[in-house]
Formats: sequence, structure tokens, C-alpha cells
Amino acid sequence: MFKERRSVNFFDKNREINDKTLQEIVNLAVLAPSAFNLQPWRIIVVSTEVSKKMLYDLANKQEKIIEASVTLIIIGNKKGYAETNPVWEEMLQSVGNNHEMVDGAKQAAGFLYGSSEERKLKFAESNAGLLAMSIMIAAKELGIDTHPMSGIDFEGIHKGFNLQESETVVMAICMGYYDKSRPLYPRRPRRLFKDITTVV
Ligand SMILES: Cc1cc2nc3c(=O)[nH]c(=O)nc-3n(C[C@H](O)[C@H](O)[C@H](O)COP(=O)(O)O)c2cc1C
Repeated sequence: MFKERRSVNFFDKNREINDKTLQEIVNLAVLAPSAFNLQPWRIIVVSTEVSKKMLYDLANKQEKIIEASVTLIIIGNKKGYAETNPVWEEMLQSVGNNHEMVDGAKQAAGFLYGSSEERKLKFAESNAGLLAMSIMIAAKELGIDTHPMSGIDFEGIHKGFNLQESETVVMAICMGYYDKSRPLYPRRPRRLFKDITTVV
């Protein structure tokens, strides 16, 4: 999968992803790890012509948004550690109603991820970033191509799609079927282990 995934620029306008496949991709991708399993993320699926046009205007008019079957807006929750996250209730049940344990975890999460603006943002973006990568890999596994984008108007999307104050736009991901009649540039080389690692 890793070698096959590309950022596909050209999507076949006439092929839609069916709902079941989209659901399967997301339901696989949520196996991504997250801090305390808090899953501080949500996704807006941009699928209608009207909402595609709105996102297109807020994303430097990248044509792939119009051509792709859907584009996902990946949203991180900067307050995903808070009491209101339903995951805490699930955690309580998973640990046999051990309130002490869950209260300890809540306190730790509040400190680790909620004690400064920087921590809140890192928490939201790192976790939702892992979800984003998982979506692209899961999609490829199910025969669907993707294209991640951060060349977008984050604030404009936040406002235009009515996000909460505590939410942050992490990236957008176009999804659909590659139009093979339009070639992609060959994949550009990567810097490898020897270039990017320091062993200490
Ligand atoms: C976070 C992120 C943001 C990106 N934003 C854009 C973008 O706005 N527009 C675009 O054409 N490509 C965008 N790309 C795609 C990259 O250019 C592409 O992943 C890179 O050139 C490697 O190509 P490959 O994914 O086909 O291996 C983005 C990729 C990532 C991971």
C-alpha cells in the first residue's frame, strides 16, 4: 500500500465512491492510535456541488476538489481531553467502572493536552494527522485514490463550515478514482534513513 499510494491530481468526474466504501474506509482508519484513545477528531464529507464549490473557493481553487467524488475536511478537537468527550464513558465501562482510574486519566490528559494553547493544538493536530494518514492508506487498500491538501484557507473553512471554537482544520483530503488518461508526475525521491535519522 505504501508504495502504491500517490497524491492523485486528476480524478474521474464520472465515478463516485459509494457510501458503503466511504464508511468502510473511515471505519478502518479510526483504528489509528490516539492519546488515551480520545479520538479528538471529526470529518466533514464535502459531497454536493454547492459545498464542493464553497471548499474550492477556500482552497486556492484546486480543481481536484471539483473533480473528486468527495473531499474530507479533517478536523481536530483542541478540547478532546475534556469531560464532554464520550470516550471517557466508554473507558469507564472498559475498565469495569473503576472511577479512580478514569479520573486519574482525565486529570493527566487535562494537564498533558490542555494546559497551554500549544499543547491543545499539538494534541488536536497530531492525533487528527494520524487519522488523515490512515484514511489515505485505508482508501488505497480499498481501491480509492486520495490527495491531501493544506494549501487551503484554514480560517475561511473554519468559518464557512461552521466549526466550533475548540476545533481546528487539520487538512483536506480529496477522494475518488484516478483518471488514468492524465499522467501524474513520477513520484519524487525521498530522503532516506541515512539522511533523516540521528542515532543517539
Ligand atoms: C499535509 C499535506 C498538504 C499538502 N497540500 C497540498 C496542496 O494543497 N496541494 C497539492 O497539490 N498537493 C498537496 N500535497 C501533496 C504533496 O505535494 C505530495 O504528497 C508530495 O509531493 C508527495 O507526492 P506523493 O504523495 O504522490 O508521494 C500535500 C501533502 C501533504 C501531506
